[in-house]
Amino acid sequence: MSEQQHRHKAGFETRAIHAGYEPDPTTGAVIPPIYATSTYKQDGVGGLRGGYEYSRSANPTRTALEGNIAALEEGERGFAFASGLAAEDTLVRATCRPGDHVVIPDDAYGGTFRLFDKVEKAWGLDHSPAPVSDPDAVARAIQPGETKLVWIETPTNPLLNIGDIAALAAVAHDAGALLVVDNTFASPYLQQPLTLGADVVVHSTTKYCGGHSDVVGGALVVRDLDLAEQVEFHQNAIGAVAGPFDSWLTLRGLKTLALRMERHCDNAERVVDFLTSHPKVGDVIYPGLETHPGHEVAQRQMRRYGGMVSFRVTGGEQHALQVCERTEVFTLGESLGGVESLIEHPGRMTHASVAGTELEVPADLVRLSVGIETADDLVADLERALG
Ligand SMILES: Cc1ncc(COP(=O)(O)O)c(C=O)c1O
Repeated sequence: MSEQQHRHKAGFETRAIHAGYEPDPTTGAVIPPIYATSTYKQDGVGGLRGGYEYSRSANPTRTALEGNIAALEEGERGFAFASGLAAEDTLVRATCRPGDHVVIPDDAYGGTFRLFDKVEKAWGLDHSPAPVSDPDAVARAIQPGETKLVWIETPTNPLLNIGDIAALAAVAHDAGALLVVDNTFASPYLQQPLTLGADVVVHSTTKYCGGHSDVVGGALVVRDLDLAEQVEFHQNAIGAVAGPFDSWLTLRGLKTLALRMERHCDNAERVVDFLTSHPKVGDVIYPGLETHPGHEVAQRQMRRYGGMVSFRVTGGEQHALQVCERTEVFTLGESLGGVESLIEHPGRMTHASVAGTELEVPADLVRLSVGIETADDLVADLERALG
C-alpha cells in the first residue's frame, strides 16, 4: 500500500491486508516471500539494494511486518522482535539509563514485572508499581526528573483493569516521561493508544496479532521519529529481532485480526453471560460489564471489550485448580489470543513470578482466553467443569 494511501488512512481491514507490502515487482507475488537470507549482495562496497545489508539490521519479510503493524497502530514506525519481552527490554535500553525510574502497573503481566524487578533493577533502573485505573496514584508514583517511562497495560493481565490512556498520557507528559502502552490484550483492532496520546505501543505479537498460537514475537510502534531512531539503533545493536519465518507467520495472522477479534468478543460476551449467573462463580471480571469499574473508560477508548475473561470461584484455590483441569474444549495452558480457547490459573502459572510480592494475584482466580470456537460448546464445557 502506498505511503499516500497509508496517510489517507484506508480502513483497518484494508490496512491489515495491504499495508507494508506491494506485490513483488518481478513476480507479482501478493504475499511477501520468506526472505531466508542472512546477507545481501552489494553493488560495489556500500552499494546496498533497498538498504538491505545484513538480516539483523533489516530483512524484507520483517520490514513488511513492521510496516503493517505501524499502519494498524497508526504510528510512524514499527519494529519486530523475537518476543514481547525482547521488545520490552530493547525499549527500556533505548529510553532509560542507570539511575532512572519507571512506573509499572501494580498488576503487570508477571514476565514484565520479572524483567523490571530481576533484570533491569540490577542495572540500576528502579521501578514503582501503581494502579493503572487511578491516574492520581500513577502521578504520585512518579519521581520528578527521574521517571522516564510510565508503563501501562490496558486491559491489564490478568485482572483486566482499565487505564485511561489520554489521562495517563497527560500525567506522563507533565512529568517529562513517555507513556508506554502494552496493547497485547486489546490488539490494534480494539484500541489504538498512539491516537490517544501514548508515545509507544508494545505488543506480545505471540497473542492476538499472530493469533494462531504458532509463533512467539513482539513489536514496538512509535510515533516520534527521533525515538524511532533510538529504537532502531538498539534493535540492531542488541539483535533480539524477529526472524523471517516468524515475521511471515505474524503478518499472515494480522490479515485476519479484525474478523477474529469480532468473534473473540462475541464468544467472550456469551461466556460472561453464562458465568455471571452461575452459583459457583464469584466476581466475573470483564470490561464490557457495566459493573466493571473501568467500563466507562473502556467504552470510550475501545471498539469492543476483547476475548479475555477472568473470574473467581466460590470454592477457593482448590476449586479454581479443579475447574482449570476439568475443561475439554478450553485447553489448560499459558498464553492467550489464539483461535483456540485456553484456561489457566494465573497464581500458579502465568503470574507465579509475582507470588509473594505486592503484585500477587488471588488464588481463586481463573483466566480464560476465549477462542473462536462454537460459543455453545464453550459454555457447555465451562458448565461441566464448574460441576
Ligand atoms: C500483556 C503481556 N505483555 C507482554 C508479554 C510478553 O510477551 P512474550 O511472551 O511474547 O515475550 C505477555 C506474555 O504473556 C503478555 O501477556
